[in-house]
Amino acid sequence: MEWRVAAIISLWLIAGAYSFPSVSDSFENDLESQARLFLAEYDRQSSEKCFNAANANWNYATDIRDETEKIKLQKSLENSKFQKEAWKNITIQFKTRENFQDPVLVRTFKKIAIIGTSASALPEERLKEFKQLQNTMSKIYSTAKTCAYEDVTECNLSLDPDLTKIMKESRDEQQLRHAWKEWHDKVGVPIRQYYKPYVDFSNEIAKTNNFSDAGAFWLREYESETFKEEIEQLWQTLKPFYQQMHAYVRAKLRDTYGDQFTEDGLIPAHLLGNMWAQSWENIYSLVVPFPEKTSIDVTEQMKQQGYTPLKMFQVSDEFFTSLGLIPMPPEFWKESLLEKPNDREVVCHASAWDFCNRKDFRIKQCTVVTTEDLITVHHEMGHVQYYLQYKDQPLIFRRGANPGFHEAVGDTLALSVITPKHLKEIGLLDDSTPIDDYETSINFLLSMALEKIAFLPFGYLIDKYRWDIFDGTVEPSNYNAHWWKLRREYQGIKPPVERSEENFDAGAKYHVPADVEYLRYFVSKVIQFQFHRSLCLEAGQYDPEDPRKPLHNCDIYRSKAAGSKLAAGLAMGSSRPWPEAMKVMTGQDKMDASAIREYFKPLEDWLILQNAKLAQPPGWQKSTNDLESEAHSYLVELDQLSSQKCYESSVAEWAYATDINDENEKVKLELSLDSAKFSKEISQNVTATFPLWREFKDPDLVRKLKKITILGAARLPDDQFKKYAQLETDMTKHYSTTTICSFKYKETCNLSLEPELTKIMRESRNEEELRHVWTEWHDKSGGPIKQTYKKFVEISNQAAKLNDFNDTGALWLNSYESETFKDDVEELWQTLKPLYQQIHAYVRAKLRNVYGDQFSDDGLIPAHLLDIVVNAEELCLASFLKFEFK
Ligand SMILES: *[C@@H]1O[C@H](CO)[C@@H](O)[C@H](O)[C@H]1NC(C)=O
Ligand SMILES: *[C@@H]1O[C@H](CO)[C@@H](O)[C@H](O)[C@H]1NC(C)=O
Ligand SMILES: *[C@@H]1O[C@H](CO)[C@@H](O)[C@H](O)[C@H]1NC(C)=O
Ligand SMILES: *[C@@H]1O[C@H](CO)[C@@H](O)[C@H](O)[C@H]1NC(C)=O
Ligand SMILES: *[C@@H]1O[C@H](CO)[C@@H](O)[C@H](O)[C@H]1NC(C)=O
Ligand SMILES: *[C@@H]1O[C@H](CO)[C@@H](O)[C@H](O)[C@H]1NC(C)=O
Repeated sequence: MEWRVAAIISLWLIAGAYSFPSVSDSFENDLESQARLFLAEYDRQSSEKCFNAANANWNYATDIRDETEKIKLQKSLENSKFQKEAWKNITIQFKTRENFQDPVLVRTFKKIAIIGTSASALPEERLKEFKQLQNTMSKIYSTAKTCAYEDVTECNLSLDPDLTKIMKESRDEQQLRHAWKEWHDKVGVPIRQYYKPYVDFSNEIAKTNNFSDAGAFWLREYESETFKEEIEQLWQTLKPFYQQMHAYVRAKLRDTYGDQFTEDGLIPAHLLGNMWAQSWENIYSLVVPFPEKTSIDVTEQMKQQGYTPLKMFQVSDEFFTSLGLIPMPPEFWKESLLEKPNDREVVCHASAWDFCNRKDFRIKQCTVVTTEDLITVHHEMGHVQYYLQYKDQPLIFRRGANPGFHEAVGDTLALSVITPKHLKEIGLLDDSTPIDDYETSINFLLSMALEKIAFLPFGYLIDKYRWDIFDGTVEPSNYNAHWWKLRREYQGIKPPVERSEENFDAGAKYHVPADVEYLRYFVSKVIQFQFHRSLCLEAGQYDPEDPRKPLHNCDIYRSKAAGSKLAAGLAMGSSRPWPEAMKVMTGQDKMDASAIREYFKPLEDWLILQNAKLAQPPGWQKSTNDLESEAHSYLVELDQLSSQKCYESSVAEWAYATDINDENEKVKLELSLDSAKFSKEISQNVTATFPLWREFKDPDLVRKLKKITILGAARLPDDQFKKYAQLETDMTKHYSTTTICSFKYKETCNLSLEPELTKIMRESRNEEELRHVWTEWHDKSGGPIKQTYKKFVEISNQAAKLNDFNDTGALWLNSYESETFKDDVEELWQTLKPLYQQIHAYVRAKLRNVYGDQFSDDGLIPAHLLDIVVNAEELCLASFLKFEFK
């Protein structure tokens, strides 16, 4: 399903029917009227080129041959050439176009600029290469053939209708798996090699247009700086509902394919009735809430009544005209391709075409008589209705208000068409079928949700995936891994068979090789409910206060009021920013998920109850791979943050250590509290986000995470940590500021450890002086902190316990990462002890010569005679970062 012309025309567009205000005689206005003349001529020629290219493109799509391909390529290049030349002329003749007074002219030139620059982005040879590349990918997709499950030598199955039918109807897990694998392998794998060059080309074109990459280039059409964020926001609002439906469907599928399910909560991608698991209506019969009640699959009815593809289009046309909208012109009925021909290859993907001449509009669809296709018919007819409504705009404005609008028109009408009420009205549901009871409504709403709600994450992730590729977040070596990461994360599905980087599963979805932006379908799914709600209110068919008129059973059939409200918005084309068109149609000027939630409210309530009953917790686990790569990214991010924090606290510690004063002490304490909080937050985040990090496969990652989660004292509650830090500072401060009195001059009491005492210990040979200094120092520095130290040990052990260690000693030892470290050190010591003892004995003998009377028979050396002062700083345990000089 696609708005075909968007893709083709994006390289050109512009058109006639200007009705500009009259001109005053200033120079600028002279130039503005020249510009109008230029544009009128440009529009004429551009429309002609557009027609030629569309025509060649149609001939190719409805008859894939080398000859038609060649012509298509040629016409498209001719058009590019024309656009390039025209753009060159514009840049020369209308240098001041951005300052024109007429806002329509300014907007027109702005839109032409993109087409013109795109056409000029690449030299002709390269442009040809790019088009060839696009063509190659599309052709692989459109002509791929796969082998049958029953007979692997029979290899003439195409996607449409063969594989589609299998995915839809088969309940044989092996067959589904085979079809899934065949398609993904036969299409994705050969396309893979072309994708990176395609990405480079696309980015080059975007950059020439002053966009950062091709993703940003696509987003320009939404005319909002924050569109990506708005979309993520919308999805977050809708996700809880999606997860409820996912949980319910999973439980039901487990009944059918029990052995395919594991504890991770993911659904295997091949079991959802669709090759891409993008909409799930084909497994309705497996999940129907009330099987004994009516379901609105009218496929059988349509067949019984002899519906043909043509008849389906007529039914749709009649709906549009009943609203007072424009009927399909005769050319449409004459030229469209509504069924798959069996004498040639065609691009079956349904599409609606605008031939840029205000009278030729066509649909190409390999229509099959089913309910699903009846909806698709309305969808495509919606595109043509849009074309018809804005056909009198200049060509440049003959586009949807934004791409999502174009997709939403037909769907909006289909929301009425598919109601049991309407199906009864047109004779596809038996008159006697009860439709107003609760259970039938739930059946109906679930069938709608299987199509619309199941689609949401898919509609979002296709472009999210490509944004990530275009902007370089994802390397070519990770193309497939990233695809499945998003599929798991957003859709909650997983591949049915092992995948690798040989594969390119995204390439097995049409819009990826065909270079069609996809976000439009997500936007459409949201806004069509806004449109529906507004039109239903207009038609008097919906009343939020009246339970007999729920939104999901509203049918706007024959409401001219609703029709004219819709038409007013459509006729604007893209001449104004989309919020204005939205306002005309709905009174709102932004996207809003409330309408969709309102529509499905009864179902959502029912699902919540049902899942509770089935004990189905909504949601699913992430895969270890995804979590590992997230953990990697988190660590990279963290590294920057932590480096900053670390720098700040080092600066504060330095300031304090080099100038011990109250102010510096305060800053140091504050920062250490702050970094403790930070470490705690990190550790909590890691445990919350990656509860199973210990099971990660990458040992380096596990090691890093382990270090992060061991916090030391930072694990203490804030007030305890404050106490801890204060105790540590007090002890350090006391040590650093302790002074003693001189042995020789009793009044001089300002001797510090360094340099005075150290010097005495090193140089003095006066035993009494040494004894004095030793005793004074130990009494004054050690003595007073004994109580402090006791408290410190308690609190520090408490911290160790919070880190799952028995005591602080065990916590320290942990950083040596060895279970036997204590024993190893002891063993080491035992090896060195004999040597030490030899030195000890020798030194003792020599010292005895100097201080004979200080030695007794115990063989010990009095401590004050050795050239060391026991360094009390070793008591200051806290910092892991500081390496103290011993
Ligand atoms: C561009 O300008 C040249 C010279 O005036 C003219 O011959 C040509 O037709 C113009 N082309 C377009 C596409 O405007
Ligand atoms: C594929 O080929 C087999 C035998 O050649 C034939 O019977 C079958 O109808 C073909 N299927 C399709 C879809 O063309
Ligand atoms: C892109 O930016 C450059 C430099 O600012 C400018 O010269 C050029 O005209 C811009 N191109 C477009 C298409 O806006
Ligand atoms: C921790 O998680 C919270 C909530 O997700 C977040 O706001 C915060 O920035 C995270 N902090 C760090 C350091 O990662
Ligand atoms: C210690 O005090 C004496 C006088 O009491 C003074 O001369 C000397 O400079 C001081 N030494 C230090 C290191 O402050
Ligand atoms: C930690 O303490 C417990 C109980 O006192 C003891 O059983 C255990 O062996 C200790 N663990 C270590 C590593 O010392």
